[in-house]
Amino acid sequence: MPENVYKPIMADLLEIKPETPTIKTFRIAPEQPVPFRAGQFVQLTVPGVGEAPFTPSSSPSVDKEMEITILRTGSVTDALHAMTNGGPLGVRGPFGKGYPTEKMEGHNVLVVGGGVGLAPLRSLLHYLFEHLDDYKRVAICYGAREPSELLYRDCFQQWAGYDNVSFDVTVDVPDETWDGKVGVVTTLLEDFDFDIAQTYVVSCGPLIMLRFVTLTCLNAGFKPEQIYLSMNRKMSCGFGKCGRCNIGPFYLCKDGPDVCYDKIKDYKDAFSV
Ligand SMILES: Cc1cc2nc3c(=O)[nH]c(=O)nc-3n(C[C@H](O)[C@H](O)[C@H](O)COP(=O)(O)OP(=O)(O)OC[C@H]3O[C@@H](n4cnc5c(N)ncnc54)[C@H](O)[C@@H]3O)c2cc1C
Ligand code: FES
Repeated sequence: MPENVYKPIMADLLEIKPETPTIKTFRIAPEQPVPFRAGQFVQLTVPGVGEAPFTPSSSPSVDKEMEITILRTGSVTDALHAMTNGGPLGVRGPFGKGYPTEKMEGHNVLVVGGGVGLAPLRSLLHYLFEHLDDYKRVAICYGAREPSELLYRDCFQQWAGYDNVSFDVTVDVPDETWDGKVGVVTTLLEDFDFDIAQTYVVSCGPLIMLRFVTLTCLNAGFKPEQIYLSMNRKMSCGFGKCGRCNIGPFYLCKDGPDVCYDKIKDYKDAFSV
């Protein structure tokens, strides 16, 4: 990070890959490496427009380039989606703690993603695939509203092909191209056959999905301390100063954004924006 934490590192925009009608993956090369842990986030600046927080979707073992998968939703993301290769962009960070990958070693990891929520989880998946010997099994459950909204379809076969990794996908509403599973993502958890005591759950997606994933896991016998949720709030500074992102005493920018459910379960606003 530069000495002035508000000053971004400039970055070239190398490639833009459309994923769905509203989501694109941006591959960028910062002027100096930006090492990050899976789950940490950066503030991405579009000069003249503003900045917004995003979690890289690429492997944390690569620090010279970074991929970020972005849903078009407002001013900064509209500007990003309108860009062509070149840039320039700015990057601040990384911020937050990242996923507790060391704590999960020797256990099963159940990764549950919804919609664009698979993007931050993809950096965790890269990490797990690169360290599979350190984990028992990895199960990926992914859901999207409809087939055209599924991210990374070209990766599914590869992910399902790793030893001790399973990949399951469902859509809420099928179309004529879809012959896979239909139903919300929590229906995939019904087939789950891991030893629950030996498993951590990591989930990212819309808040309503996180709430139901949490309820389903608790009903199945998981303890709150086994469940990690990516809680995305509006953020500004990124390091605990502006007070925009807290749940109770927890600042999601510095204590999260992936938080153990045990830490937030007693706060009524945990699942509201
Ligand atoms: C730690 C973190 C990681 C994130 N990672 C990703 C990612 O990998 N990919 C991705 O597509 N998005 C991600 N987001 C969400 C992303 O930051 C917002 O979509 C973005 O800030 C919208 O900026 P905008 O200027 O385009 O929209 P604005 O013009 O600011 O707002 C447009 C709409 O989006 C809502 N909005 C703004 N910020 C957020 C937010 N943080 N969460 C939910 N709704 C919001 C606004 O209320 C408004 O309705 C992440 C958010 C956080 C906090
Ligand atoms: S974003 Fe400023 S305190 Fe968290």
